[in-house]
Amino acid sequence: MERITNDTYVSPMRIAIASDHAATELKTELAEWLMEIGHEVADLGAHSNDSVDYPDYGYKLAEVVADGTAERGIGLCGSGLGISMSLNRNPAIRCAMVSEPLSAALAREHNDANCIAMGARMIGIEMAKACVATFIETDFAGGRHQRRVDKLSNPPSDTDTIEPLQ
Ligand code: RB5
Repeated sequence: MERITNDTYVSPMRIAIASDHAATELKTELAEWLMEIGHEVADLGAHSNDSVDYPDYGYKLAEVVADGTAERGIGLCGSGLGISMSLNRNPAIRCAMVSEPLSAALAREHNDANCIAMGARMIGIEMAKACVATFIETDFAGGRHQRRVDKLSNPPSDTDTIEPLQ
């Protein structure tokens, strides 16, 4: 099944979304919109405005993207920073903190980002939707970027020698 948005065809995706208390409204708006345009969305919380800790939600989101339950993840907090740091603690996650669509496009094309993070206190709903639309519609460019992306999952240990820069 395929759907049409902005003159492009995008297959429905399994998308997981999570936030702390500072971004529950943005999360709900994005989740509802994503479902309206045909995606399968798992809302991992938080489900109220009670104060919670963003790493708990970042780690939970990272897990479902890392194990393939979700194809892409969207992490939200007040600034976007804490949730992006939490997501990137998982070696399978490549999360880009974005606030405009060009970064979302480059995160997909060059970095094969499987998650994006945004700050609900920094971004409006229309810009957030534009970032998400770009994130789900843009393909990884592969080629020379593949080797670099592979290295992100395998940081050198203390005993490794870092390859010379190319
Ligand atoms: C919560 O007040 C705030 O610190 C959190 O949402 C986030 O901005 C942290 O990075």
